[in-house]
Amino acid sequence: MDLSETDNRSVVWLTGASSGIGRELCLELIAQGHRVIASGRNEQALAKLAAHSDRVIPLAFDIADPNAVEQAGHKLAELTSHLDQVIVNAGSCEYLKFPDPDWSAATRVMAINYSGAVDCIRIALPLLKKASGRGHIVGIISQVVFAPFAQAEAYGASKAALSYFLDSLRVDVADSLDVTSVFPGFVKTPLTDRNHFSMPFIVSAEDAAKRILASLSKRPRRFIFPKRLHWLLKLSVICPRLWQKIMVADNKANNKDNTPVREKK
Ligand SMILES: NC(=O)c1ccc[n+]([C@@H]2O[C@H](COP(=O)([O-])OP(=O)(O)OC[C@H]3O[C@@H](n4cnc5c(N)ncnc54)[C@H](OP(=O)(O)O)[C@@H]3O)[C@@H](O)[C@H]2O)c1
Repeated sequence: MDLSETDNRSVVWLTGASSGIGRELCLELIAQGHRVIASGRNEQALAKLAAHSDRVIPLAFDIADPNAVEQAGHKLAELTSHLDQVIVNAGSCEYLKFPDPDWSAATRVMAINYSGAVDCIRIALPLLKKASGRGHIVGIISQVVFAPFAQAEAYGASKAALSYFLDSLRVDVADSLDVTSVFPGFVKTPLTDRNHFSMPFIVSAEDAAKRILASLSKRPRRFIFPKRLHWLLKLSVICPRLWQKIMVADNKANNKDNTPVREKK
């Protein structure tokens, strides 16, 4: 089916649609009347989403597998002649637990959160250039990039890399496309359900999706929420030593009953 021929509403490609924030984004997008090509690895979860509405088309693949990404690129072009928006949301988190971390986690997380996201943008670009209006690229980053957190070396670095990539891309595609970087704070999803530390100002995935979509209509360069967390993280810039002391103490306290958290399911 060519999605773009069925009517003139937006065609959105959403990665990480099978769970958490992405699932809620998908449900909200279809409620708004958009058509969504929904990606993730979990075919069952995507099929359940598609059962909600014929406006959801599942496209299952592993974004960390370059061959699978190429295949997905061909499939995308079969599904639609254009994309109005791509939301690169798929992500994974693995913590480095010192003194004996699993160093390979850094490579795995980078392959999904950075290289996978960049690959998805690459294969979406030709279709975004055919958008009915100005195409829109959206990256789901994280407020982790604003302050150093214990054990977050792999996750934070991958998100910081994606953040820079999108800032730079915004300049290069300014003539034809908009680029929005979204920085959520803590959101209750399977990804954070495994955390054993306190997550201030945590919001539900449904709330996060609603806030994100409300902001996207204005196509901002950046959308950061909740703002209260952002203000708190500014402490790491204003008083970096104090921030470090707090993080060290917090890490020691959490490590007493914390088992290493390793993605994936
Ligand atoms: N939750 C938070 O507090 C929070 C805060 C800031 C930013 N974020 C970011 O928000 C995004 C969504 O996270 P979430 O909290 O909703 O987590 P989640 O519930 O674990 O969802 C992660 C999504 O990414 C997909 N994914 C992971 N690895 C993949 C791979 N190799 N190939 C294809 N898809 C893959 C998963 O699909 P499959 O399992 O089907 O592959 C799933 O749909 C992530 O980028 C995360 O870093 C989350």
